[in-house]
Amino acid sequence: MKVLITGGAGFIGSNFIYYMQEKYPDYYIVCLDALTYAGNFETLEHAMKKSNFRFVKGNIADRESVFKLFEEEGFNIVINFAAESHVDRSIKDPEIFLKANVLGTQVLLDAAKEYGVDRFHQVSTDEVYGELPIDRPDLFFTEDTPLQCSSPYSASKASADLLTFSYYKTYKLPISISRCSNNYGPYHFPEKLIPLMITRALYEQPLPVYGMGIMCGIGCM
Ligand SMILES: NC(=O)c1ccc[n+]([C@@H]2O[C@H](COP(=O)([O-])OP(=O)(O)OC[C@H]3O[C@@H](n4cnc5c(N)ncnc54)[C@H](O)[C@@H]3O)[C@@H](O)[C@H]2O)c1
Repeated sequence: MKVLITGGAGFIGSNFIYYMQEKYPDYYIVCLDALTYAGNFETLEHAMKKSNFRFVKGNIADRESVFKLFEEEGFNIVINFAAESHVDRSIKDPEIFLKANVLGTQVLLDAAKEYGVDRFHQVSTDEVYGELPIDRPDLFFTEDTPLQCSSPYSASKASADLLTFSYYKTYKLPISISRCSNNYGPYHFPEKLIPLMITRALYEQPLPVYGMGIMCGIGCM
């Protein structure tokens, strides 16, 4: 089984590579990652020791090199973790989010269609559904919840999801899409909500409250 994991030098992708290497030691895994500010090659140090692992530095939006890689490797499975993923950065500069998250996904889908894969999995986010009211803990998101993006980041992820689904409808590309909630754990980049809050709380610094435009001190509302 030949698996392409994009964005594998990032937080979730690197954890996934280690999970796959342990669970399926015979699988040949290729990690394609542009090593943006969010990518950390060092987290893959142990993965690199396996002979059936290859790291390729490259941009998923670079059609020529992505197609070349698919031709060389003949992947069975593609799992697309690669994305610009920080909401605040998307508010400052939406364009790079559209290039990486939408156009990058399209290039991968085109390559998967051209060379054929058994499964293309798009890693998305529950942020595509927007927010639930804080006083309604009985509510939750389902696959049928309408999309209600509230940032360029979530809009770019929702666009990539719709595009992915359209490749199933139009070309019968075997796809799946997951929309997980916030993750936390090893290799988490410190700008993200959970590590940011924990680190700031440890140093007794103000905690940013998103959507309210104020900085709130520890313990106050
Ligand atoms: N972190 C979360 O809690 C969370 C929650 C829901 C969904 N997600 C989704 O999971 C995926 C992984 O999230 P993460 O937190 O690990 O992100 P991350 O920012 O830690 O890692 C992203 C990785 O993608 C790479 N990358 C970015 N643009 C690229 C491009 N154009 N070409 C190739 N590589 C590129 C970066 O170098 C980095 O290694 C993303 O698609 C994100 O939208 C994350």
